[in-house]
Amino acid sequence: MTITALLKKVLPFSKPYKNLIFYTLFLTLIGSFAAQVNAYILKYTVDTISELLVQKQPLSRGFYLLGIIAAILLGKEIVYAGVQFGQKLYGEKLRIMMARDFSQAIIERILTYRMAFFTSAENESGKLQTRIDAGISSLTRLVQNFFIEILPLFSNAIIALVCMFLANIYLGLVGLLLIPVYFYVSQLQATRLSGFRRNMRNYRENKSNQIINLVESILVIKSFGREAVEAARHKAIQFDMTENQLETRKMSYFFDSIKSFIERIGMVLVIILTAYFVLNEQMSLGAIMFHILLFNNVSAPIRQLHRIYDEMNDALIYSESFFSILEAEGQREPTGVHRPAVIRGRIELKNVDFSYPNGFQALRNVSMFIHPNENTALVGLSGAGKSTIINLLDKFYTPTRGQILLDGIDLADFDTAYLRACLAKKSYF
Ligand SMILES: Nc1ncnc2c1ncn2[C@@H]1O[C@H](COP(=O)(O)OP(=O)(O)OP(=O)(O)O)[C@@H](O)[C@H]1O
Ligand SMILES: [Mg+2]
Repeated sequence: MTITALLKKVLPFSKPYKNLIFYTLFLTLIGSFAAQVNAYILKYTVDTISELLVQKQPLSRGFYLLGIIAAILLGKEIVYAGVQFGQKLYGEKLRIMMARDFSQAIIERILTYRMAFFTSAENESGKLQTRIDAGISSLTRLVQNFFIEILPLFSNAIIALVCMFLANIYLGLVGLLLIPVYFYVSQLQATRLSGFRRNMRNYRENKSNQIINLVESILVIKSFGREAVEAARHKAIQFDMTENQLETRKMSYFFDSIKSFIERIGMVLVIILTAYFVLNEQMSLGAIMFHILLFNNVSAPIRQLHRIYDEMNDALIYSESFFSILEAEGQREPTGVHRPAVIRGRIELKNVDFSYPNGFQALRNVSMFIHPNENTALVGLSGAGKSTIINLLDKFYTPTRGQILLDGIDLADFDTAYLRACLAKKSYF
């Protein structure tokens, strides 16, 4: 899934919280301007102090300067604290509310799915649970971080970049150049890592499922003395998983070093360029600190880029399976529209074959009548398929071949919920 596809899917879930999002965006804008204050104040301070030193001004004017700076910085910190409080609170609120909505949506949806969905091997309870939990937590973490980290950092970076351009076009260009290079490297890193992550997801699902299986079949394991075999099986999975983890880390550290190298080179360029302009008397001494702080504001979010990519990739990979469950249209329980006022209860099975989702054929060419107002007993060996027939009559599954008729009408044509309500009430079987 691509990031735009993901956003499209998440958008409907964020609609109810439009106000919350609007407040967060507003706070972000204020925060981004406040973040540049330090750079300007530092430049002003350095320039004024050097001027005072040159003019041999009395200390009292220096104190006046410090008073003004302290007042501005204090004011800025108060605004900043307020902004951060609001951002964190709204971000968390959004995460909690959306997690609730995602969970409710998936529960409501899977309740409408046919029995085969629940009994298929890929949806064994442990796997389904892990997949849904991981999907919801990575999605909501992404939404939260978008508002309390990604968005503030990037709007901060854009404003800092504009300030750099306003200060000097060459400096602006150094800042601007850093961005595509960093994006490219982070993208490369993300692509390399996504394969590992996908494997990790499978390992995790299998692992949690394995423990559930182990607990459920402990009686069999102990009876047949298969403890050692089971332990070896777990060990193999564990080893593959650690191997995968180590490779992931190695790859991450490799790219991290490259990126930190690029950033440092950028910083060196900024310092050299500014020092040149200062020596050339095109800029004041305060410009050095000013530019370093601005560059830092540009590179800080970029430094976070790989983490953001990581989170996005997590969300993309985990939400892929979450949405594939949520949007599994093919899994919806089939229903017809037939709702007769009375069901007499004449049932006919015509050459019915049935295979369970795992491929096991439980019924082969079964034909029979069940007449209304009679007691009919279904007798057979264990595993003969008695419960399977009841499952088919209840429309829990559909026959693989053949037909089941109720009062002469194909069971598939009946409204499923109505049919089950009638079966439960009258219990024909
Ligand atoms: N969900 C399932 N997936 C795969 N195979 C299944 C499933 N449920 C049952 N089976 C298999 O289908 C066959 C018929 O099972 P069924 O439960 O219908 O037998 P039964 O006649 O009701 O047996 P019992 O008298 O023990 O209740 C058995 O071999 C069983 O192992
Ligand atoms: Mg049975």
